[in-house]
Amino acid sequence: MAAAAQPVYWLGNETLRVSAALFAENRQRLCQGLKAKEDLVPKSVVVLQGGEQKQRYCTDTDVLFRQESFFHWAFGVTESDCYGAIDVDSGKSMLFVPKLPESYATWMGEIFSKEHFKEKYAVDKVHYACDIADVLSSLNPAVLLTLRGQNTDSGSISREASFEGISSFHVNNTILHPVIVDCRVVKSDMELEVLRYTNRISSDAHKMIMKHVKPGQHEYEMESLFQHYCYTKGGMRHTSYTCICGSGNNSSVLHYGHAGAPNDKTIQDGDMCLFDMGGEYYCYSSDITCSFPANGKFTADQRAIYEAVLKSSRAVLAVIKPGVKWAAMHRLADKVHLEELVKIGILHGNVENMLKVHMGSVFMPHGLGHLLGIDVHDVGGYPEGVERINEPGLKSLRMGRLVQERMVLTVEPGIYFINHLLDQALADPAQSCFINNQVLARFRGFGGVRIEDDIAVTADGVELLTCVPRTVEEIEAFMSDSSKPFSPVVSAE
Ligand code: GLY
Ligand code: MN
Ligand code: MN
Repeated sequence: MAAAAQPVYWLGNETLRVSAALFAENRQRLCQGLKAKEDLVPKSVVVLQGGEQKQRYCTDTDVLFRQESFFHWAFGVTESDCYGAIDVDSGKSMLFVPKLPESYATWMGEIFSKEHFKEKYAVDKVHYACDIADVLSSLNPAVLLTLRGQNTDSGSISREASFEGISSFHVNNTILHPVIVDCRVVKSDMELEVLRYTNRISSDAHKMIMKHVKPGQHEYEMESLFQHYCYTKGGMRHTSYTCICGSGNNSSVLHYGHAGAPNDKTIQDGDMCLFDMGGEYYCYSSDITCSFPANGKFTADQRAIYEAVLKSSRAVLAVIKPGVKWAAMHRLADKVHLEELVKIGILHGNVENMLKVHMGSVFMPHGLGHLLGIDVHDVGGYPEGVERINEPGLKSLRMGRLVQERMVLTVEPGIYFINHLLDQALADPAQSCFINNQVLARFRGFGGVRIEDDIAVTADGVELLTCVPRTVEEIEAFMSDSSKPFSPVVSAE
């Protein structure tokens, strides 16, 4: 069916229209990938289980539902408690929706027909989930392909489809996972369009924050403004991850913002802010970090550290293209950081020798960047046969494979002054010999700088998806220009 004839997901106003054709194409790509496998037998049927509606602990209060990512990739279904099946030979799709009790109509709203879901999601057939065993057995499949595999960032195992009666089928749970993961690594044109949108809205939300931030405000007020902008302007009910709104020393806490450190500090004059926030639309992510002084004017030290990170970011962006090794990009960022830290006077000595003792990871303990898509740390960083490099810093890299056209990646170098890591380095003679402790002392409590952009890899380079002020001059001019207010409550500029 032509894309124009397909239903769309759309939240009105200026939000993006996403055609159900995106998911039809994903299913088709999956079938192609499966058919290329030697161990695939005819009459194979993929069965995926969608996310389940959960409650808060033992209460009857619903947790805001977000679809399971593999299921979303294949079906784009927003409702909970569904299954989906794909007949690999024909490519035909089936959706299984819950048969809801009458009380649903009282408490939750209209109970829609199967026909409603068939039209809404442009699948070939819709059945009730309670009938899944009978429906699948009527297809007489040789094998059901279920999804079992490890997420290489969390270590968790995906939830394999399971239903009453599945034991009467022949099930293979090893073929599907690597194939669907490889499909998710390579973004289609329609997926790229959604990721451009999530980046545009989230970039604008960051810009709005830069206009609003003032010493005296709490970090969580910035989190709230970001969420408000993304939701009102972009229809983004979820963010891609917990907002990180670190100011002052908190900007050195890599995943600040969690329940134990909930963006609750008052932003002080002279603080650096590191705001790492991304909106999610229809389960597609963004992941953007802006670092800037709370008062809009960089001190000499803030400028020096910021420009060191910007230099590594731009050096990496200039050379990324299909075929490059991601670990080499990480090493390049480390090298630029160390060269710049020597110029600033925090380090002294030969940078090549510093690299041999992993000095880069003292200042950037995380990986340079990761795949981005339906998950913020998207799947596929380490397929079978690609091993993590077990070195400080590099061991945290979430992707080990060669860069490929149509990957979407974050590039997020940073320099942080983390007391615990600085003290470790000072206690290690192999590293302390490079540190000028007197100069370093000035940077204790500085926090950190991260510059995080999202990119799509093209045939010969990158497309920058993120669009925010990046140079010191751009940031200072943008933050001081009150003639161009950027408000979350007035209509789009
Ligand atoms: N926001 C998490 C990350 O940058 O990977
Ligand atoms: Mn990131
Ligand atoms: Mn981030």
